[in-house]
Amino acid sequence: MTEKLAGDNDAAIRDAVREAYAGRVVEGGSCCGSADPVSAAEQMGYSKEDIDAVGEGANLGLGCGAPLAMAAVNEGETVLDLGSGAGFDALISWRAVGPTGRVIGVDMTPEMIAKARENAERVGAGNVEFREGLIEALPVEDESVDVIISNCVINLSPDKSAVFKEAYRVLRPGGRLAVSDIVLTKPLPAAVAKNLAAYVGCIAGAALKDDYLAMMRDAGFDEEPRVELKSAFKVLGGDDPMVGAAVDAIGGCCSPEPEPASTGCCSPEPRQLESSGCCGSDVPAEAPAAEETMDLSEIVNSVFSAQIVVTKR
Ligand SMILES: C[S@@+](CC[C@H](N)C(=O)[O-])C[C@H]1O[C@@H](n2cnc3c(N)ncnc32)[C@H](O)[C@@H]1O
Repeated sequence: MTEKLAGDNDAAIRDAVREAYAGRVVEGGSCCGSADPVSAAEQMGYSKEDIDAVGEGANLGLGCGAPLAMAAVNEGETVLDLGSGAGFDALISWRAVGPTGRVIGVDMTPEMIAKARENAERVGAGNVEFREGLIEALPVEDESVDVIISNCVINLSPDKSAVFKEAYRVLRPGGRLAVSDIVLTKPLPAAVAKNLAAYVGCIAGAALKDDYLAMMRDAGFDEEPRVELKSAFKVLGGDDPMVGAAVDAIGGCCSPEPEPASTGCCSPEPRQLESSGCCGSDVPAEAPAAEETMDLSEIVNSVFSAQIVVTKR
């Protein structure tokens, strides 16, 4: 298990993320996803059968892809879900592993853990457990897991290298990590990169794709990952709060303008971003090198929903 202790900034970021996601349990709604979780899940690649079987109360519309569609989970396997939320992917995994398999969900937000346990009980999933903990210091034994999945969570981690090292540690040799996450192809403007709402909304914490893959390789994963990229805003739909967070971060929150319906989040009008902050709080961390100005269409064209599968050889 990693010995890394969170620095002050890491802890502050996690506290903000935890608080925001505790609120989502009560309110529902979305971070990276559409306000309609059922159609969002279908659009991301979940089958109607899985959604109907476990979705109620578990599908909060917080994902940005369908990691299980790539993970090819087999009966009898042990699956670990990093940032399991209300248990949506964990409970779908439970259907795949059957009574001889096992599923573990890890999440740092107590309200999410409670909701996930409630959902597991509702569907009678006995071989599923939810553990409160950090994905950077997993409460999981070494080499005890066949498949790790994660849906729109690692972007929220202030220490992504630790997450991949921990994933590598707990996987058995030959095990795979299937991730849906937000990645960037270009640094975000500082006003977005430093904005806490944009961080919690799964955009400001996203890493550059090449850095993300390098961190996976440095942790020990194979050199040739399977990677698919799609425009995050197209995957997530037109009412995505990520766009709202980005727009707010560049100044819209202090004097709201009609957005994004008039422009559409998938093909917005160019809009010049100022580097000044807005009324939202800043991320209390060193932001990565960022552009000072960038128009909204450039942001949209730099933010991707990535589906990545890597293997522990
Ligand atoms: C965007 S939601 C995704 C939830 C779930 N994967 C889904 O698709 O519904 C992010 C989740 O990750 C959890 N999370 C974020 N950072 C975490 C960390 N460092 N350690 C453990 N859980 C974390 C949050 O509490 C929240 O439940």
